Amino acid sequence: MRLVILENAEAVADFACEYFVGQLKRQPKSVLGLATGSSPVALYQRLIQANQKGEVSFDQVTSFNLDEYIGLAGDHPQSYRYFMNDKLFDHVNIDQAKTHVPNGAAEDPNAECARYEAAIAEAGGIDLQLLGIGVNGHIGFNEPLSSLASRTRVKTLTKSTIEANSRYFDADEFQPTDAITTGIGTILDAKEVMLLATGPNKAEAVRGCVEGPVSAACPASALQLHQHAVVVVDEDAASLLSMKEYAQWAEQRHIELEGA
Ligand code: PGA
Repeated sequence: MRLVILENAEAVADFACEYFVGQLKRQPKSVLGLATGSSPVALYQRLIQANQKGEVSFDQVTSFNLDEYIGLAGDHPQSYRYFMNDKLFDHVNIDQAKTHVPNGAAEDPNAECARYEAAIAEAGGIDLQLLGIGVNGHIGFNEPLSSLASRTRVKTLTKSTIEANSRYFDADEFQPTDAITTGIGTILDAKEVMLLATGPNKAEAVRGCVEGPVSAACPASALQLHQHAVVVVDEDAASLLSMKEYAQWAEQRHIELEGA
C-alpha cells in the first residue's frame, strides 16, 4: 500500500487531481470508478478546471460510480446520479452515455445489481477506482460486516451512515435506508484504487484501513489485499497512525526513486 500523508485537504485534492490527470494522459480511454460524498468534491473541481483549460480530456472516458440510494431516481437532488452530473459530468467533455450510476429506481434492484456488475466487466473492468471512507470504515456502501468477496448488491445502511448523510436531507424529507453498492470484491478487481480521507473524524477509520487487521469490521482494510492501493490523507486523518513517520519517509524515498 502506498500511504501519502499531506498537510491539508487542499494538498490531498491537488495530489489526487495530478494522479487522475496522469492516468487520463497515459490512457485516454480509461474506465474510472467514481465516488460521491464530500471527499471527492475538491478533486472534481480541479478536474473541471483542468478540463476547461484543455489540460485533460474526458471524451473517451467511461465511468462507473460506486453506489446509489434505493428509492431515488436520477433526477432527485439527493441521488448520486444527480450529484455526479452536478459536481462533475455537466462541466467536462465526458459522453454522458458512458457514465454509469446504479439505477436506484429500478423495479428489480437485484436484477439492476447483476446488470451493473456485468456492465463493468463488459467495459473491461475499472482502471482507477476512487474511494472515500466512512467514519465506520465503509467503502462505497459496503458497511461493516460486508463480505470481503462481495459483488454489486443491495445493502442496508448502518445507523451511523444514515446519520452522517442526514446532513444532505431536510428534516421532513424521505431519506433512503438501503442502497445498491458495488462490492468489496468488485472494488478489489480495479487495477488501481485511490482512497481519499481528510479531517480528524476519519482518523479512526484510516487507522483501521491502513494498520488494522484485514476484517469485515473495517471494509476499507480490504485495500491491504490490493496490489496497487494508494491512500491519500491529510495530517488530521493520519493522526492516529503509529507508522506515520515511516510512511512519510517511504513516500519521500518513492519520489526520489521515481525521479532517479
Ligand atoms: P464523505 O463520505 O466523503 O462525505 O466523508 C465518505 C463515505 O461515506 O464514503
